Amino acid sequence: MLDFECWIVQCIRKQFNIQNLTSEIPQRPIIPTPSPTMKKTIAALAIAGLSFQTYAQNSATVYADSGKAVISKHIYGHFAEHLGACIYGGLYVGENNTKIPNTAGVRNDVVDALKKLKIPNLRWPGGCFADTYHWKDGIGPKSQRPSMINAWWGGVTEDNSFGTHDFLNMCKLLGTEPYLAGNVGSGTVKELVDWTQYVNHDAGSPMANLRKANGQDKAWGVKFWGVGNEAWGCGGNMRPEYYANIYRQYATFMTDWGNSSKLFRIASGANSKDYHWTEVLMRDIPHNMLEGVALHHYSVINWDKKGSATDFSESLYFKTMQEALFMDELIQKHSAIMDKYDPKKKVALIVDEWGGWYEVEPNTNPGFLFQQNTMRDAVLAGATLNIFHKHSDRVRMANLAQIVNVLQSVILTKEEKMILTPTYHVMEMYNVHQDATNLPVEIKTNDYVVGSEKLPAVSVSASKDKAGVIHVSLTNIDINKGQEISINIKGLKAKTVSGRVLTAAKVQDFNSFDNPNKITPTAFKGATLAGDVLKVSLPATSVVVLELK
Ligand code: AHR
Repeated sequence: MLDFECWIVQCIRKQFNIQNLTSEIPQRPIIPTPSPTMKKTIAALAIAGLSFQTYAQNSATVYADSGKAVISKHIYGHFAEHLGACIYGGLYVGENNTKIPNTAGVRNDVVDALKKLKIPNLRWPGGCFADTYHWKDGIGPKSQRPSMINAWWGGVTEDNSFGTHDFLNMCKLLGTEPYLAGNVGSGTVKELVDWTQYVNHDAGSPMANLRKANGQDKAWGVKFWGVGNEAWGCGGNMRPEYYANIYRQYATFMTDWGNSSKLFRIASGANSKDYHWTEVLMRDIPHNMLEGVALHHYSVINWDKKGSATDFSESLYFKTMQEALFMDELIQKHSAIMDKYDPKKKVALIVDEWGGWYEVEPNTNPGFLFQQNTMRDAVLAGATLNIFHKHSDRVRMANLAQIVNVLQSVILTKEEKMILTPTYHVMEMYNVHQDATNLPVEIKTNDYVVGSEKLPAVSVSASKDKAGVIHVSLTNIDINKGQEISINIKGLKAKTVSGRVLTAAKVQDFNSFDNPNKITPTAFKGATLAGDVLKVSLPATSVVVLELK
């Protein structure tokens, strides 16, 4: 019998002084015809969120004293590409000709909102755009910067008014670490080496002098560097063996220029389940010149027919979640290959593009990838972060695509208006896990069944922070049923539980410019703690984060 059923039986037994109820019921407790007192008890249990109708229970064990790997804060990273209104209009509005309050051209409202997320790193300038970007076009007086055509994203003119200084100074405003993606596809080794010198060398080199002449005396000290992007596709359509050689060449000449930020070089990684790509990179690149290998995986129903971001059926929702939960298998399989070549896990797996990808909003430029964000995206984010936590020994950075106005954004803007998406709220609720120790979780969950297919309904992750506070995050992807879960927390010293929940009446609900607060987190009353047993009553389609003190 599952833990929760046992608990119900205990309650009934206590209330009615029934001695041997469990032995009489092979499957479920036999509930006697309710007397008035019993009716009251049932009503009280139902109010506590413990409905008898949904009591095929989930159960889990969290090992509070057995945590080893730290959940790197960097798995809460973001991604900003020169794509649609991500940079221009979303993050940057320029200093002149705008009524939108800004600091050096960067929107104050967006900065304030992002600061609350505690974003640890921001990847820029792409994506596919990175392999067409020549960084020297984006420095010096703005009026003299050459223009280019953004060939990947809408064929629009890029005037390079947002360049290296703008990005790195924006990172300072946000309190985040920059992650620069270098141009390997159409650039040169010298160009990338010059970029590392420009941003990292304090003084005495040609690029340090150029930086000073452009008004920035001190080097910024950039640690994270992408050596190309999607080299198997928009980054040059390379074969893995060829890219591995190119990577070795670039990585040889990239140095930190004596800056205390030692370079962390990230190889352009596999497209989803291209395990061969990871195999070749791990085999052919010496590990003393490789700090991270990337992986890109989007939750897409069908690349030719991605479906609306807001108007979708339950079966399409199910497919999106199937793709999202596939991240677990992907990480396991890529990690197994990495383990073969790197058993000590020195090289990190960096999921530097992930999220849901749907059709653009009606009447918007198809090349701008502007999509709304519903409760579907919230549960997608929660479930994916739980997967990253579970694999925190190998996954040490991840970047949600993309930060503002593109794909699964945390923020959408429309001129001076700004809204926070359901995904924003999940990233904010979950940030308590940043740099906390991951706690192992074993879970037995009900299925979420649609037609002939099923997925695990509930996912759970837990961590212990430096002050000893335990946080437990749960998602229920089932859009029809609430789920009860009983969690045994072994080694728990806490006495109280509190938390927040994000949920909505419908999975298709979203925040709009007219109704920006339709979905926001609220205090959660569906959790109780008795000794080391935590009982949680999750609403349908919900994300919950609990704090145990
Ligand atoms: O995020 C949008 C695009 O998706 C990126 O530019 C590219 O790297 C990926 O294919």
